Amino acid sequence: MDNQTPIHVFLIEDNPGDRRLLQELLREVTSVAIHLEYANSLSQGIQHLRENPVDIVLLDLFLPDSQGLSTFTQLQQQERDLPIVVTTGLNDETLALRAVQAGAQDYLVKGQITGELLVRSIRYAIERKRTEQKIREQAALLDIATDAILVRDVQNQILFWNKGAERLYGWTVDEALGKTVSLLFQDGLAQIEVAQQQLMIDHEWQGELNQITKAGQKITVESRWTLVRDDDGRPKFILIVNTDVTAKKQLEAQFFRAQRLESIGTLASGIAHDLNNILTPVLTTAQLLQMKPGNLDERSLHMLKILETNARRGAEIIKQVLSFARGGEGNETVLQTGHLIREIQQIIQETFPKSIELEVDVPGDLWPVIGNATQLHQVLMNLCVNARDAMPEGGLLSLSAENLTLDRNYTRTNLEAKEGKYIAITVKDNGVGISSEMLDRIFEPFFTSKDVGKGTGLGLSTALGIIKSHRGFITVSSTPDQETQFRIFLPAVTAAYGAEVVDLEVLVGDHQLILVVDDEVNVREVTKASLETYRYRALTASDGVEAIALYAQQQSDIGLVIVDMMMPAMDGTTTIRILQKLNPQVKIIAVSGLPHSGGEASPVAPVGIQGFLPKPYTVEELVKAVHDAL
Ligand SMILES: Nc1ncnc2c1ncn2[C@@H]1O[C@H](COP(=O)(O)OP(=O)(O)OP(=O)(O)O)[C@@H](O)[C@H]1O
Ligand SMILES: [Mg+2]
Repeated sequence: MDNQTPIHVFLIEDNPGDRRLLQELLREVTSVAIHLEYANSLSQGIQHLRENPVDIVLLDLFLPDSQGLSTFTQLQQQERDLPIVVTTGLNDETLALRAVQAGAQDYLVKGQITGELLVRSIRYAIERKRTEQKIREQAALLDIATDAILVRDVQNQILFWNKGAERLYGWTVDEALGKTVSLLFQDGLAQIEVAQQQLMIDHEWQGELNQITKAGQKITVESRWTLVRDDDGRPKFILIVNTDVTAKKQLEAQFFRAQRLESIGTLASGIAHDLNNILTPVLTTAQLLQMKPGNLDERSLHMLKILETNARRGAEIIKQVLSFARGGEGNETVLQTGHLIREIQQIIQETFPKSIELEVDVPGDLWPVIGNATQLHQVLMNLCVNARDAMPEGGLLSLSAENLTLDRNYTRTNLEAKEGKYIAITVKDNGVGISSEMLDRIFEPFFTSKDVGKGTGLGLSTALGIIKSHRGFITVSSTPDQETQFRIFLPAVTAAYGAEVVDLEVLVGDHQLILVVDDEVNVREVTKASLETYRYRALTASDGVEAIALYAQQQSDIGLVIVDMMMPAMDGTTTIRILQKLNPQVKIIAVSGLPHSGGEASPVAPVGIQGFLPKPYTVEELVKAVHDAL
């Protein structure tokens, strides 16, 4: 307020004597220009104010058309933003105080007013009203903030609670005010004790807190505290701004888990690759030796069978580890998972203890998916067996499926989910459950809580690998001793999809010449022997360079080249590319310790080849691949 612009004062006063007195007093004032107008009654006053803006109203509470406090409240209702100073007689001070409580900026007692007092009151009233307005505006801003903003005193009692806090925690202002902040913590105030001490030293604190909403939902907030002191420097209250980071944290955890699993996968597939190179000759040799029964007695044959069985078992485990690392192999058809679930239902009914009650709920119109029935069967079986093991005393196992369309809201909370149609298969049990520390690790290969010999810890990691290679994902939630739920999401197909018929017949060759390229001498030799057993002819090369030289010499004779993808010096991809340059029609089967990930563009999968053979392969698999390629 400067002294040049006049202050417009509006006086509502019916007593001519009082009016004149105030006029006189204001005229005496020289420190500020005052422009004064007046009305005789409340209605007149309200009428005038509608058309003429003023800075402040001096209001007599006793007017011809209104007496007492209601004179003030009526005017206030009409003119919310206007500062009002009430004037009363000597005996009416209590009334004046009530007007101030109701929102009047000040009061003046007639007969005690001086010019100076009047001006001071007017200035003070205008200032105060402005401050009030600003506070109200700020409060409105606090309310549209998405953060939860609260103020508490040093006894932890909540003094302020914005709309954001209502939204985040579910407690309304009325419910929260006067309560202590232990309302927001499951474990009382233990979690914030250290923060509290820090706050007293630094005047501020920042950190993450685990809190709980009215509905009992656990949330994580990023919390910023500021200590506000009174004029004497004593801690007065604490301003707290909390940002909900629950979803962000979950995504972060998912990301770290995915990363960890990926590095374990890389490690595992490296080992598996070496093991495959060792097992392939063991397996094929065992098989080939059995094909020469003339030279062997019963006992040796039997021993060879044992050798073969165990080599196969080893190969199976490697396959499982690899299916975790790279997903299962292709062989995809359109599937009705409803059939799968009913198959599982039958197995459970026949083999699970009777103390486990089974509930199955599958709608008839479940969307089909594209996938490998054997693999998905294995996934469901793994989950059901886990559920069984979690309920040694019996319980309820429930299998259900549903069609789901995932929207952006959902995909925001899950890294692997994409918008679109999915089917979800839920396997639920009410067994022992999984603690939150364990939840983080259960998908790791070889993670098990079971006794030695009871579990290998490969069930869930295999399931995860398979579901991933189906472009799906798995979620899990568990409340120990109450409920554990695994959900498999698979992308649904809604259009028709041609199913492939697999010809299982294995045909012997017609003396075609096959070039086998592998840096492992054992693999090379047994592959050659296997092919010859099945009436093919075979040539071998120990690396890409040798292979290309041989091929260049005998191109017209060689009907097919089998190339190991993982070779030192010149790798399989390069070898294949050069062979294809020499002869664009060359027939090639690629061999690798790493299975070909179905559909996805894999850096090792060369284009234009006739087949792919994962190591270790059986004689049948080899011959079938060769037959198909030719
Ligand atoms: N439904 C469930 N309830 C409680 N714990 C479970 C459940 N499913 C899995 N788990 C926990 O996850 C761990 C890993 O499961 P996973 O299937 O990978 O291995 P496993 O069952 O221990 O062994 P495997 O399946 O190879 O025989 C289990 O040991 C168990 O602690
Ligand atoms: Mg298991």
